[in-house]
Amino acid sequence: MEIATKSGEHPQLTKAEMVSGDIEAHCLSNSKKQERTQQETSNTQDIIVRFINPGDFYACNNFHNNLYKKDRTDTQWQWEFLHSGLPEIPFVVAAKDEEILGTLAQIPIRMIDQEGEFLTGKSEEALLDPAIRGKGIYPQMFKKIFDYMESQNILVVWGFTPAIKANVKAGFEEHTGIAQLFFPFHADAINVLLKNNRSSKIKVKGIKILCSLAGVFSSISLCSTGLRINNSLAQNICLKTLSTPPEEGADLCRTFVRQWGGTTILRNASFLKWRIFENPHIRATVRAAYLDNQLLGWVAYSLDDNSVGHIVDIIAASNKINSSSMETVVAVLLKDAVVGLRKTGALGVRAWKVNSHPFDDLVARAARKVGFYFIPRGEWMVLHYLQGSAARPSLKSIDNWYINRIYTEGVLG
Ligand SMILES: CC(C)(COP(=O)(O)OP(=O)(O)OC[C@H]1O[C@@H](n2cnc3c(N)ncnc32)[C@H](O)[C@@H]1OP(=O)(O)O)[C@@H](O)C(=O)NCCC(=O)NCCS
Repeated sequence: MEIATKSGEHPQLTKAEMVSGDIEAHCLSNSKKQERTQQETSNTQDIIVRFINPGDFYACNNFHNNLYKKDRTDTQWQWEFLHSGLPEIPFVVAAKDEEILGTLAQIPIRMIDQEGEFLTGKSEEALLDPAIRGKGIYPQMFKKIFDYMESQNILVVWGFTPAIKANVKAGFEEHTGIAQLFFPFHADAINVLLKNNRSSKIKVKGIKILCSLAGVFSSISLCSTGLRINNSLAQNICLKTLSTPPEEGADLCRTFVRQWGGTTILRNASFLKWRIFENPHIRATVRAAYLDNQLLGWVAYSLDDNSVGHIVDIIAASNKINSSSMETVVAVLLKDAVVGLRKTGALGVRAWKVNSHPFDDLVARAARKVGFYFIPRGEWMVLHYLQGSAARPSLKSIDNWYINRIYTEGVLG
């Protein structure tokens, strides 16, 4: 065996071993490392990446509940994943023997642009047991998912994620940071925004004081929204609470892509029924805006378990209303949501600002008029293009997407 005698000659010696000259310990620790690597390789070799079987449903939900300390019911799991309409459930597992050690799923989402409708896949349920992370299993799972989605003529797979590095490694090629629009009612709302933040207690206290002040300014803005919008239009808008999906949903989306360009989720009656009106997690309140009995758009909002309100969806379009007047429609809808959420005891309201799609920008402008703050901090949106996507102009850039939660993002909407 070749043994290095001088410091620096053997790159595998640790500093402690070099100082103590404990060559034997080094050889032993090296053989232990080799043993561990061999064991890990054989561990990952035993792992099979395959499509889910009906017999795995319960185990997959259990796997999720155990790792996240949640209590999602089987009914909620089925609502989420057995709605795909594809021949194979687009749900891949990493399993060792029959034990589930990883999950990755897709929710097929129909989108619309000026050329018509097309199918996309929204990624969900990406989770690996910590023991098998960092070993190339996640890209293998996505390979299986991408191949299957492509075989079903799905043009693009997309997702929201905090794990940008892992997803880029798995094949996602375009991404953008999601920012937040935030309306504070109470200083405690900041706890949610500072989740995972390791700032000192004094700094958090300072931020909370600022948040209280921001809340005062936001409330003043809310009361004086009328000064910043087209009041005569605002007064003519009639707001209604919807208890069933509007039949005009699909037409509104068609008008939307003509008016604002790009692509958006097709919110037809069956999609809205599935994701919003029959949602088994949190039912959103849906408030629709009408002018002369014509549907202009809606806002959907919900309150989570931490008493934070979420704008789940906001959309508006009309071939009779220009873009500056549409800002008024959106401001009226947002103001209504803020007032509604405050009545239910919300600590604050969050909405997403995803990219530079013209309507996304319009929502941000209207939100500022109502009293929302812009916070450049959030998760990422990622895209992976499949065959056929290159021919679709609306898919050329992530800025062409008008996208928000609308219950494509976990249980919060
Ligand atoms: C996301 C996940 C499936 C990726 O598995 P993997 O490909 O084996 O990758 P790793 O776990 O080794 O992570 C790769 C990198 O992504 C980072 N990462 C993983 N999850 C992350 C998260 N939730 N937020 C931020 N970074 C994350 C890791 O820290 C690692 O970074 P490093 O290379 O600098 O150490 C796995 O990390 C996981 O199950 N995470 C918890 C669930 C989760 O975060 N799901 C959301 C993803 S959509």
